[in-house]
Amino acid sequence: MAQIMDGKAYSKEILEQIKHKVDKLQKKPSLAVILVGDDPGSQIYVNSKEKTACELGFVSKTFRLKENTDPKELKDLILKLNSDKNTDAILLQLPLPEHFVEQDFIELIDPKKDVDGFHPLNCGKLMTNSNPYAISCTPKGIIKLLKKYNVEITSANVLVIGRSNMVGKPLAQLLLAENATVTVAHSKTKKLAQIASKADILISATGINGLITKDFVKNGAVVVDVGIFRDENGKIKGDVDFEEVSKIASLITPVPGGIGPMTIAMLMENTLELSLKNAKF
Ligand code: GUN
Repeated sequence: MAQIMDGKAYSKEILEQIKHKVDKLQKKPSLAVILVGDDPGSQIYVNSKEKTACELGFVSKTFRLKENTDPKELKDLILKLNSDKNTDAILLQLPLPEHFVEQDFIELIDPKKDVDGFHPLNCGKLMTNSNPYAISCTPKGIIKLLKKYNVEITSANVLVIGRSNMVGKPLAQLLLAENATVTVAHSKTKKLAQIASKADILISATGINGLITKDFVKNGAVVVDVGIFRDENGKIKGDVDFEEVSKIASLITPVPGGIGPMTIAMLMENTLELSLKNAKF
């Protein structure tokens, strides 16, 4: 039976360490979150980010804009926050409603305040191992959790399923920097189960409920589930068939309580780091 990689417990430890540091700071880190529209998933995420930021003593401001907001209004808000000395970090909650070209707005955010590390400058810095101002929270949290459980990443065969800008691509970069042999699979990949069953570390970020059955998993593999959604009964589920896969994996993340809380903890860590870096300029 696999050991659980308890992201909930570890994130609590990280948040306590952050709180300890923040308590000693005169100027508290400040995070601005922008939410456009009323996507129910995004509302839950944003509320949870706001609550955690407040618990840590951060200055947290959430800007809620209507679904039919004029793109010019969002542009003006981002530019205002960029030049606001009291804002250290900006998070633009994604996805944006369809009439926005998402990338245009990501690129408007000052890279020094880009808490998600989604700006092309930060993506490029990540790719070239040259100190991005921030690294995408979910991938950063995954690496941190693997290290906490002493998973050997160097020379491991790692399969990342999913090639999003938010998770799959930055995660592949981080794993390469850790000397893993990385394969990235996606919706057009053929013979996925066959490829997956060779992986020492299998990381699934597809949002397809129960995609990863025991046929995808090598005996003793480490399995990380990044999927998170509610089923028809309101129960939170992931990509992995936990019941089956936990019988053959050596380590596995649960959903909920795995990568989700690690992502929030990394968002708080990034906010603190940006505020400390901004204080030096
Ligand atoms: N939507 C879902 N996850 C994320 C995230 O990590 N950052 C942002 N900005 N939007 C998201």
